[in-house]
Amino acid sequence: MEDRSILSGMRPTGPLHIGHLFGALKNWKKLQDEGYNCFYMIADWHALSTEYANPQKIKENVEEVAIDFLVSGLDPEKSTIFVQSLVPEHSELHLLFSMFVPVPWLERNPVYKEQMQELKDKDLHTYGFLGYPVLQAADILIYKANYVPIGVDQLPHLELTREIARRFNYLYGETFPIPEPLLTETPKIPGTDGRKMSKSYNNCIYLKDTPEIIREKVSKMFTDPKRIYRKDPGHPETCPVFLYHGIFNKERAGEIEKECKEAIIGCTDCKKELAEKVIEFLKDIREKREKLSKNKEYLWKILKKGSEKARKVAIETLKEVKIKTGLNYG
Ligand code: TRP
Ligand code: SF4
Repeated sequence: MEDRSILSGMRPTGPLHIGHLFGALKNWKKLQDEGYNCFYMIADWHALSTEYANPQKIKENVEEVAIDFLVSGLDPEKSTIFVQSLVPEHSELHLLFSMFVPVPWLERNPVYKEQMQELKDKDLHTYGFLGYPVLQAADILIYKANYVPIGVDQLPHLELTREIARRFNYLYGETFPIPEPLLTETPKIPGTDGRKMSKSYNNCIYLKDTPEIIREKVSKMFTDPKRIYRKDPGHPETCPVFLYHGIFNKERAGEIEKECKEAIIGCTDCKKELAEKVIEFLKDIREKREKLSKNKEYLWKILKKGSEKARKVAIETLKEVKIKTGLNYG
């Protein structure tokens, strides 16, 4: 058993897609199975920082993400799977951090600047949105996590967490380990249009997609733009469909490459073959999903149990922090 801790989280903004599975969840499961002390969180407060005006879907989204965690192989017996707002100690640590985090650290955060630009339809000139990385630091440090598996897009946030940990340790004495990122390389799987898989691009294949939906989505996938006629030789290396074959249809990928280059196979057939492979790959996940969606009570039991377990650790850290910051009233 490893005594080193890991924390990571996802915002419940909708169901998860195969990009999450290959980019994060498979890695989370691997770390869990390697015996790290893993905390995997559904960051509902963080979701509210952008969705504060539409909170109606949060609960449903928390359930969706929890189901997706479980069907991806995260095991509540091995990992602590929990909901952020069910561990209110995060917010207390966040508040304490906010006393000494300089505002310019937050204003110059590139993720903040980028999102302000990108999410123009929402008013994000809020206190909570500026403080997003401070809450993220509390999420990580309250478990004294040593490693944080994240994508490169989250690196600036982790850097801030590290700065906050160092500043705390400097002001109040050695308390927090400086957490290190465990980078999951660039997304292994692009969206159906070849760009990054993302809800806002409408190019996702979700873990919950039915066979009909998968067939439909795969049939519309982008292909080699240079292959205009059936008789044109293709360039599989530039084709997202081929990339998917490499993941879901490994045994046949070599042949497909050749058949594409020699115009033996057409794109329609190539996609049909792929769709069935993706459906087969997601079969187990889809069946488990169906069972779990019918059993919300069981789902919440797991989440509440996980949150209680997380809380025990969080409470201990907070006790120590209160003593160190002078709020030690016995
Ligand atoms: N900000 C992360 C994201 O958008 C989610 C998150 C919240 C997180 N708290 C975290 C990730 C702590 C890692 C560690 O994906
Ligand atoms: Fe892509 Fe397949 Fe068409 Fe080749 S045959 S361009 S790999 S979809």
